Amino acid sequence: MAAIGIFDSGYGGLTILDSIRQKLPQYDYVYLGDNARAPYGTRSFEVVYRYTLQCVRKLFEFDCPLIILACNTASAKALRSIQQNDLPKIAPQNRVLGVIRPTVEAVDKLTKTRSVGLLATSGTVQSNSYPLEIKKLYPDISITSQACPMWVPLVENNEFTNSGAEFFIEKDLKNLLAADTNIDAIMLGCTHYPLLLPLIEKFVSPKINIISQGKIVAESLNDYLQRHPEIDKRLSRNSTVQFYTSEQDTKFSQSASLFLNQDIVAQHIEM
Ligand code: DGL
Repeated sequence: MAAIGIFDSGYGGLTILDSIRQKLPQYDYVYLGDNARAPYGTRSFEVVYRYTLQCVRKLFEFDCPLIILACNTASAKALRSIQQNDLPKIAPQNRVLGVIRPTVEAVDKLTKTRSVGLLATSGTVQSNSYPLEIKKLYPDISITSQACPMWVPLVENNEFTNSGAEFFIEKDLKNLLAADTNIDAIMLGCTHYPLLLPLIEKFVSPKINIISQGKIVAESLNDYLQRHPEIDKRLSRNSTVQFYTSEQDTKFSQSASLFLNQDIVAQHIEM
């Protein structure tokens, strides 16, 4: 078994896994959620890097030759160091990819006003990764960022269907849209946020494109595998998926089943 590893701090990466499995159902997948230490969004560079590297090593132990960091915070704070410093030492033949670059590549076609918004964790916003990527690829696009520190805890604690959740979502969206009234596209720069989409849509005009990352990352992975047959041919194809969590497995199984709308049995691993 040589599965594609999908990593997130918690449940958010399930939104990416779901889209990837729809696009590429033939492969095997191993999902790892570090729920016991989520959220990552308010943690320092040092800590996010250390936790992410531990999880990447764990997925290598599960024989995953290719890992997607399905977490913007980890992609912003740990991906480059892992790719440049750790991979050459620990597994030079393996690959680790992130979610920020494909999202930024996709935004070009989704904005006419060239004013886009970013909703993300404090860590992703502070890292400045999105504005830097936008500047490199599309210097004419201006980006306004809004950190939403309460959104991930609402999802992780399964508290997002009550009116308390609406308060925070409305507040952060109002701040973003007031900061630049020309925004016609909003990137959901955190993989947990698509789970909040019905609430987000309540407070955003239908004229504004809301960009979820699932399909974008799935397309980009498909493209990557076509361009890299040396990785593709190492991947097994039995259409299986295994779930691991650093939290209690029954809690993960319950919440993940709810989010994915299918029965899931997760296993606990110690991180
Ligand atoms: N899903 C992660 C992301 O995309 C959430 C990070 C967190 O744990 O705060 O950024």
